[in-house]
Amino acid sequence: MLNGHTALVTGSTQGIGLAIAQAMARAGADVVMHGIEPVAQGEAIAAELAAANGVRAAYVRANLAEAGEAEGLVAAATAALRHPDILANNAGIQYTCPIESFPLERWNAIIAVNLTAAFLAMKAAVPGMRERGWGRIVNIASVHGLVASIHKGAYLAAKHGLVGLSKGVALETATHGITVNCICPGWTDTAIIQPQIEARAAQCGGDRSAGIRELLREKQPNLTLLPPERIGDVAVFLCSEAAAGITGVALPVDGGWTAQ
Ligand SMILES: NC(=O)c1ccc[n+]([C@@H]2O[C@H](COP(=O)([O-])OP(=O)(O)OC[C@H]3O[C@@H](n4cnc5c(N)ncnc54)[C@H](O)[C@@H]3O)[C@@H](O)[C@H]2O)c1
Repeated sequence: MLNGHTALVTGSTQGIGLAIAQAMARAGADVVMHGIEPVAQGEAIAAELAAANGVRAAYVRANLAEAGEAEGLVAAATAALRHPDILANNAGIQYTCPIESFPLERWNAIIAVNLTAAFLAMKAAVPGMRERGWGRIVNIASVHGLVASIHKGAYLAAKHGLVGLSKGVALETATHGITVNCICPGWTDTAIIQPQIEARAAQCGGDRSAGIRELLREKQPNLTLLPPERIGDVAVFLCSEAAAGITGVALPVDGGWTAQ
């Protein structure tokens, strides 16, 4: 379905990003994986993806907290494989803290990785997509791009910002065969939520399963952590011909979180 296309997936050596890279490769796309692991380690992960799916894969290392590295990511991906006509901005970080004591450096890092890096990657990727008359951008926002929770000031600002930015880029590219959409996951079973699970488990006498149950009970009606594969498959759908008419959308994949 995605044969002949090249996907750049940021933060794709683990978690949701890895699931997106795997789903893209299963659908036939060549994949440029990205992460902060050393090159040899990343290249081994990319080689595994290529071998398992019969596609080409490469790895690019870039610290997206550094604007200069984020700015060069699409060029590095192009040099490693080909100019990406699919871009999934997935890399993200989280830090929870009440507003009065939220450290500025945490704010700056979250805005840089979760928002500015996506802006810079879209800026660099869109011209080639326009030339080709085809492109798919899938930005991994969050339910926190749509609704709020306490103690997530920077993450909320970045994810609401990403949803707004994606709508704007969708309008700017709508006549060029390009779609730009966000996926807004709820609680998904990856590393990023482990500190929040541990904090809740501590409130439940150290019982991790009880901590997870409490987090879900509070927000996510299906009472189940989403497997990352749920997000990967939706990302592939948004790249498919069936989704060619969907652009500027922020699609919750959240077990009912935002229906409440
Ligand atoms: N897991 C959830 O419940 C959930 C819910 C909603 C949205 N999300 C979003 O999904 C995306 C993926 O997160 P995940 O759940 O797979 O967690 P994760 O922690 O497993 O993955 C985060 C990825 O971002 C990359 N990354 C972090 N800092 C980076 C930096 N400075 N430079 C480059 N890459 C960096 C990491 O290497 C990693 O691959 C994030 O944008 C996150 O905000 C996750």
